[in-house]
Amino acid sequence: MNISHKSVLITGANRGIGRALLDEALRRGAKKVYAGTRGALQHADERVTPLTLDVTNGSQIQRAVDEVDTLDVLINNAGIAIYDDLSNLDVLEQTFAVNFLGLLKVTNAFLPLLKRSKGAIVNDLSLAGLAPLPIIPSYSASKAAALNLTQSLRALLAGQGVTVHAVVLGPVDTDMNRGFNIPKVSTESAAVGIFDGLEKGEEEIFPDPTSRSIAEGWRAGVSKALERQFAAFVPQRSASV
Ligand SMILES: NC(=O)c1ccc[n+]([C@@H]2O[C@H](COP(=O)([O-])OP(=O)(O)OC[C@H]3O[C@@H](n4cnc5c(N)ncnc54)[C@H](OP(=O)(O)O)[C@@H]3O)[C@@H](O)[C@H]2O)c1
Repeated sequence: MNISHKSVLITGANRGIGRALLDEALRRGAKKVYAGTRGALQHADERVTPLTLDVTNGSQIQRAVDEVDTLDVLINNAGIAIYDDLSNLDVLEQTFAVNFLGLLKVTNAFLPLLKRSKGAIVNDLSLAGLAPLPIIPSYSASKAAALNLTQSLRALLAGQGVTVHAVVLGPVDTDMNRGFNIPKVSTESAAVGIFDGLEKGEEEIFPDPTSRSIAEGWRAGVSKALERQFAAFVPQRSASV
């Protein structure tokens, strides 16, 4: 996968990692970048097409699909994180609506275009999906569920030429973790790491030094081995989703 001359859609593209991904896609010569946002977005580059896209809103998702002709790369980046202690189920529901169901709804909606282009799905996940960060347990659970879903999609779509990538992000300097006092990398370097991993065809992309420190262990670990073993149960690896 080479981003040059490709058509890319990024959800949550107005700020944080999503905005950096937008700019990095342009730097790498993308033909067109669809910027999914809840509010208005203006960008000087004529290759950018803003799309009104709340990932929890079915009719906005459908309208966005109608506005896109071809799509090579879908980046499910939109996400929320709320400090909680699992005592308030509203937080859990709200978090899953965006980070899990929103991701799946957008993916399913754009799947016909991605199958046509034999494209790629990139899901922005988190180290907190591999082991919970208990100050944000609902968020952690949503990212664990989204990782599991990513692995299923990978197996289900393997026979149809669509690749599915999990980005295992460590701490990045954005509004999401403002006030959480730990070392963080810039959004720009995270975006470079994400596209580098995609261009190398990595199933799991570890785009920053914190996440990279566990990459080798993940790739050689029992969870990855089980994923491959279980993927063999997909009939002829060409079932449709
Ligand atoms: N920052 C980190 O350290 C870190 C670490 C691991 C993983 N991640 C993941 O990386 C992704 C981006 O995070 P970030 O740090 O860039 O967060 P951020 O700065 O808080 O930005 C979140 C983005 O998601 C959008 N969004 C939220 N709810 C949405 C919805 N219902 N529909 C559409 N867009 C929605 C926001 O749009 P509005 O401006 O309209 O709110 C914003 O563009 C997330 O999936 C996050 O879980 C981040």
